[in-house]
Amino acid sequence: MARPAAWLLLGAVLLFAASATAQDCTSNSFSNGRSFRLCSALPVLGASLYYTYHPENSTVDVAFRASSGSSGWVGWGINTERPNSMAGSSVLIASQDGTGSVSLLQTYLESTAPNLTPGGLKITLSGTPTAEYSGGVYTIFATIVLPNNNTQQNTVWQAGPISGGSIGAHIQSGQNLQSTLRLDFLSGSSTGASNSRLHRRNIHGVLNGVAWGVLIPLGAMIARYLRVFESADPAWFYLHIACQCSGYILGVAGWGLGLKLGSESVGTTYQPHRNIGIAIFCLATLQVFALLLRPDKKNKYRLYWNIYHHSVGYSVILLAAINIFKGLDILKPATGWKTSYIVILATLGGIALCLEAITWVIVLRRRRRDADKAPHGTNGAGWQNGA
Ligand SMILES: *[C@@H]1O[C@H](CO)[C@@H](O)[C@H](O)[C@H]1NC(C)=O
Ligand SMILES: *[C@@H]1O[C@H](CO)[C@@H](O)[C@H](O)[C@H]1NC(C)=O
Repeated sequence: MARPAAWLLLGAVLLFAASATAQDCTSNSFSNGRSFRLCSALPVLGASLYYTYHPENSTVDVAFRASSGSSGWVGWGINTERPNSMAGSSVLIASQDGTGSVSLLQTYLESTAPNLTPGGLKITLSGTPTAEYSGGVYTIFATIVLPNNNTQQNTVWQAGPISGGSIGAHIQSGQNLQSTLRLDFLSGSSTGASNSRLHRRNIHGVLNGVAWGVLIPLGAMIARYLRVFESADPAWFYLHIACQCSGYILGVAGWGLGLKLGSESVGTTYQPHRNIGIAIFCLATLQVFALLLRPDKKNKYRLYWNIYHHSVGYSVILLAAINIFKGLDILKPATGWKTSYIVILATLGGIALCLEAITWVIVLRRRRRDADKAPHGTNGAGWQNGA
């Protein structure tokens, strides 16, 4: 029921995240009269890539251009193993010594802290690649035999400092962690892996924040506090179901996106965040079953069902709050997000507290009234079962 809808939604979200970009490039004169058919302005680090694909021998001539001080290096490469990752890439790194002579290192990045041993490329180059430096800009020229004659490849690029005469570590944040792109050398279209990854992390955060952090607690509050008003019966029940179902659908979409992001994040796993996320999904799915297995109001097992439904529900809300904070720590968005979430949480908590008090007043008053009228009384504080 909710699942196909959730997968549909997940598909739509991923499609939305993978936005194609086609940009024009400015500096396009090259030494030796070289020219290229297509060009992509890469989304970060001010770099651009020029390329010509030759289908007859499935090679592509590329020129990678990026600015860097004379005390810096730049690199470009293809990851034959996985998208959105430096680890697993075969790269060409241009750098220079103090005299201004430019050298080009061909290496395979075995991890995110590679030892830069020359050789070991997982791609085949045709001819010898070259690099030059002029006016603060490096250009790397190479001809690559496209792996599997596939025009779509995971490209990576980077820039960093030269320290002590050798290639130093690049910055480990911001643009330097977004410099990947799945590029089609035939059409020039690209799925902005860099932007898409950050986008998808944000989408994951917003989806899960809204679903588990707002809709689900709101739905629980509706169930607990709205039903004491006789006029709100059975409206509260349908509102509760609507909140929880939409929260579940959005939440599962966000959860699936999170799992996908986790599987793509090589070398870094956020184990507690992942495990709590999986637990939340399992418990929430149990709640969907709870809906299907709900015994009749007069059934003697209804009490046990109530206990089960409430304890699982409150566990989901609690775990979700914990996991949202963990997620915020991972994503490190502008501090405003964390503050906003705390404000939302405090508001919901405050409203719940007020309603809790009102509920008790109403229920106790009603009990007294009913006790006056009939000796049998009615159900207790907010725990009666609707619909
Ligand atoms: C591939 O084909 C292009 C276009 O015909 C040609 O210019 C280039 O030299 C060829 N490369 C190799 C390695 O054969
Ligand atoms: C590579 O693929 C293209 C497009 O499918 C095809 O036209 C071309 O003949 C292939 N080249 C080689 C060398 O297999």
